Amino acid sequence: MARIEAEVGKPQGGLVKWIDDRFPMTATLKYHITEYYASKNLNLWYVFGVLAFVVLAIQLLTGIFLTMNYKPSATEAFASVEYIMRDVEWGWLIRYMHSTGASFFFIVVYLHMYRAMLYGSYKKPRELIWLIGMLIFFVLMAEAFAGYLLPWGQMSYWGAQVIISLFGAIPWVGEALVEIIRGDYSISDITLNRFFALHVILLPLVLVGLVFVHIVALHEVGSNNPDGIEIKKNKDASGKPLDGITFHPYHTSKDLVVIIVFLMIFSAVVFFAPEMGGYFLEHANFEPANVTATPEHIAPVWYFTPFYAILRAVPDKLWGFILFGLSVILPVFLPWLDRSRVKSIRYRGWIYKGALGTFTVTFLVLGWLGTQPAEGLYVLMARVFSVLYFAFFLLMPYYTAIDKTKPVPDRVTYHA
Ligand code: HEM
Repeated sequence: MARIEAEVGKPQGGLVKWIDDRFPMTATLKYHITEYYASKNLNLWYVFGVLAFVVLAIQLLTGIFLTMNYKPSATEAFASVEYIMRDVEWGWLIRYMHSTGASFFFIVVYLHMYRAMLYGSYKKPRELIWLIGMLIFFVLMAEAFAGYLLPWGQMSYWGAQVIISLFGAIPWVGEALVEIIRGDYSISDITLNRFFALHVILLPLVLVGLVFVHIVALHEVGSNNPDGIEIKKNKDASGKPLDGITFHPYHTSKDLVVIIVFLMIFSAVVFFAPEMGGYFLEHANFEPANVTATPEHIAPVWYFTPFYAILRAVPDKLWGFILFGLSVILPVFLPWLDRSRVKSIRYRGWIYKGALGTFTVTFLVLGWLGTQPAEGLYVLMARVFSVLYFAFFLLMPYYTAIDKTKPVPDRVTYHA
């Protein structure tokens, strides 16, 4: 018995056995890494999950060092960030890594979500992975929003002012809610303190917890692939999926190459264009918060602008808030809105391809419109594209049901 165990790889003796007798270390590593089978045809779209991990690690690590020198107080916050930039050893690098990391987090997560839309990864049996992912997305938005107040610049202050006051549009409870969020009658030192607590402690904890369950849920059902075929349906005599290869070393070795390229691009931005022309760090935020002077244009950072454009497209405050909220929440329902028989775009008909193409353009145009002043043609365009945005989701049960699909092969397609 012991010999058989040795042959199949159960570690014998030593520290590993000592730990394994007390904690399922080898079993966990096998289940999640060395014997986790993912399809052999995963393409570049499948690397964004791993990249999200990398950015999460960068944010946690740089965040700890920023916190060592940052002062969460309305009178000191702005100056403490300047101190980090000018006087703290490597402070500028830590701060730029963190601010660039925030934007990269959203780039990576948006592409990660888009992959799910390309290959129907939110469809049965992966609905829960998608739902947990959406929770991650909401927490990430809250985390970014709270973080943006901390430098206490003009845009920190006025951006928070605009967004928090939106909640005031909710009937009956709105005003009370705004006071609870602010902790005061206006945005003040108290608001800064609570946003600091949320940004540094609560939200990162929740984020890490959610990422953990995201992966547990993923490994329970297994990864989807660009063909949208369940590889568990075709197994060999020993129960291994015929189209699967183990995560380590086969996927990890490919992922490593992409991680290195990603870090090169990330470094290029950190060193050469950390403000990214005002998109990653807005110009107005290099001035300290001034309660008496509103900046000329108040626009959130680029990753919120598609939703912000929808908010401003509606003339009524309450309806603007409702549609804004709906635009953020609607993707949650994708697993049930999409009634197509096939998962992957490869086997869908022209209707879904057209709808997803239009949605892609719509999201990008809305994002651009959110950075422009809300006047004239911009407002008209925002209205047209908001309608297109909602049409993509609300008409989905209809157009995915009538879309002509192609037959899905039994085995994944793979060209070495
Ligand atoms: C911190 C943020 C996140 C991390 C670290 C993360 C991590 C991962 C990883 C490592 C995978 C497996 C590799 C891959 O398929 O790319 C994965 C799969 C997946 N994630 Fe995420 N994720 C995050 C956010 C999200 C969000 C916001 C959503 C959607 C709302 C989402 C939806 C999914 C789905 C549907 C899958 C399964 C994809 C498939 O098998 O085709 N994730 N995630």
